[in-house]
Amino acid sequence: MNHEDDNVLLFGSGDELPSNHSNNPHIDTLINGLSRRQVLAGGTGLGVLAFLGSALPALAQAAQPAGEDLAGLPFKRRTRLPFDALAVTRTDTVSVPAGYRATPFIPWGTPITGSYPAFLENAGNSAQDQAEQVGMNHDGMHFFPIDAQSGKGRISDHGLLVLNHEYIDAGLLHPNGPTVVAGKRVSAEEVRKEINAHGVSVVEIRRNLQGGWEVMPSARNRRVTAATPMQIRGPARGHALLRTRYSPDGNATRGTQNNCANGFTPWGTYLTCEENWAGYFASADAALPRELSRYGVRNSSRYGWDHLVGDDFERFDATRKAPAANEDYRNEPNHFGWIVEIDPFAPESVPVKRTALGRFAHEGLVFAPVKPGRPVVCYSGDDSQNEYIYKYVSRDKYRPGRSNDRLLDEGTLYVARFDASGKGQWLALDIHDDSFQRACTAAGVRFADQGDVLINTRLAADIVGATKMDRPEWGAVNPENGEVYFSLTNNSSRTTADAANPRSANPFGHIIRWRELSKDYAGRSFAWSLFLLAGPETDSMGPNGQPLNADNRLASPDGLWFDEEGRLWIQTDMSGSQLHTGPFGNNQMLVADPKTGEMKRFLVGPLGAEVTGITATPDFRTLFVNIQHPGEGSTADNLLSTWPDGPGTRPRSATVIISRADGRRLL
Ligand code: FEO
Ligand code: CA
Ligand code: CA
Repeated sequence: MNHEDDNVLLFGSGDELPSNHSNNPHIDTLINGLSRRQVLAGGTGLGVLAFLGSALPALAQAAQPAGEDLAGLPFKRRTRLPFDALAVTRTDTVSVPAGYRATPFIPWGTPITGSYPAFLENAGNSAQDQAEQVGMNHDGMHFFPIDAQSGKGRISDHGLLVLNHEYIDAGLLHPNGPTVVAGKRVSAEEVRKEINAHGVSVVEIRRNLQGGWEVMPSARNRRVTAATPMQIRGPARGHALLRTRYSPDGNATRGTQNNCANGFTPWGTYLTCEENWAGYFASADAALPRELSRYGVRNSSRYGWDHLVGDDFERFDATRKAPAANEDYRNEPNHFGWIVEIDPFAPESVPVKRTALGRFAHEGLVFAPVKPGRPVVCYSGDDSQNEYIYKYVSRDKYRPGRSNDRLLDEGTLYVARFDASGKGQWLALDIHDDSFQRACTAAGVRFADQGDVLINTRLAADIVGATKMDRPEWGAVNPENGEVYFSLTNNSSRTTADAANPRSANPFGHIIRWRELSKDYAGRSFAWSLFLLAGPETDSMGPNGQPLNADNRLASPDGLWFDEEGRLWIQTDMSGSQLHTGPFGNNQMLVADPKTGEMKRFLVGPLGAEVTGITATPDFRTLFVNIQHPGEGSTADNLLSTWPDGPGTRPRSATVIISRADGRRLL
């Protein structure tokens, strides 16, 4: 979903208004005198040459062994991308290059568990049916080989496909649209269906003898929804600001929602990331505490779930109604904005909210290359205008085969400052860190404990002087050299350019990358450069330093993913006039090779859809890609797309299975 617009009406776009009112610098004065080409090369400093020259030995160590893929099969070293670039198009289909196939799979409403209720096109399904079917608006996704936890994770024809369902489109979810009386939601059944269409699906799938993929009836198939019981762990567990009527001790909650991009751990679990959760809540209080105001909680909610009577719904009303926090839901919004770990191989397991990773509009979570005996390091962006990029370093070392349950509970959270020199610093958000304490004193801000810091992550980042970014979306790490790439999708509210965000305003977005200067990725310094400025031919710069062209122009980069040979796959989330009348056509997916600078359009999605979510089998013969919100804004009377089922049917988000017609590796 694109969050650029400011529509906050009931059933609005789900976008969040900018809420960073800090005075953090845009370091605009530092960029003066830099040409765009210098900016692309990473600024002016020493780090730039090192960056462009070669990877550090430590980074090379972390790469896959040359010439062998994750399935243990040899792959050929490439010199150019072996497909013809697609032209931009506006058709109601998924297009891929000649020689490839794209097949829709598990659309919204596919039965996966319980009584396996069939999707009903016209009558609509019940709330309970929806809890047993694939949810709406597919987003981040990961394929776990069936031996991901029990073996080497190299099985390519059988596994668990785990995917997020970011939000709901009420005009399509309900056959006749939602029932609203005098501006209020009145149907508990409708709202329950909406709650159940959110969350995560776990689907066991197998490749048949014909090479097609099928959903297996399996006890592992699972729906996690916006009502599923969860634990809260890490430094904020049990904090006074997490106490609610449901959880007087502040250690449990219900549900996850607005799950955008994702991650997965080295120990075979799934990470789902809570992005624009603030809009699900309302508070009628005149003055909101900082842990609500800095996140954009307002006096009305996006879907009006808080309008209904009953504990399941009243929890979305954060108004103070009782003398004590454990008698109302003033703190319920503090249970959201976290990263949630789900064990997909244990269907009865209770998902865990990992508070050590910080609380913000988490887009996703991506790990630096992991090595036994070293801490785990991971990165997450806060996707809102002028928010930040974060890094987490575990206190303890990764030990394969042993319990790594505490790695995401004990560690240090940092936020990024991108300097115009081409270097950058990770600034600790740690109440025991001397610089952090000095920053708090200078700002006149007090945190009671580390839980308070994490619940107020954005404020902590403001205080230390993090760099305001152009909406950080997905990250990806190049397995060949450990470089970290992040998409900055666009920023209509930027008024002052800086080195890392060089356009003001930034309608088209860009991709930034950095290389850690420490051997184990855990240090505080990095060297950065810009990889790509998206946009039309007249206002863009590709990975080869040249303007983009008909084969690769794009705008609003969002999803990022590296294949194991170090090619970067880029997905777009354009909306509004950029999508409908711009030179970019429908949303798309491109492949870029950082080694050669080559970049080509590989896929174009159907009308009104976003392309988001990507994962592959270890043998790289199957690529899974998600198509979200085809025909966005459709109602039963006005279908703006009928993908994937064809004329007269409601558009449905779905996964697309991409393979080569000859059955070989994709590239
Ligand atoms: Fe849900 Fe930032 O995209
Ligand atoms: Ca987006
Ligand atoms: Ca996204």
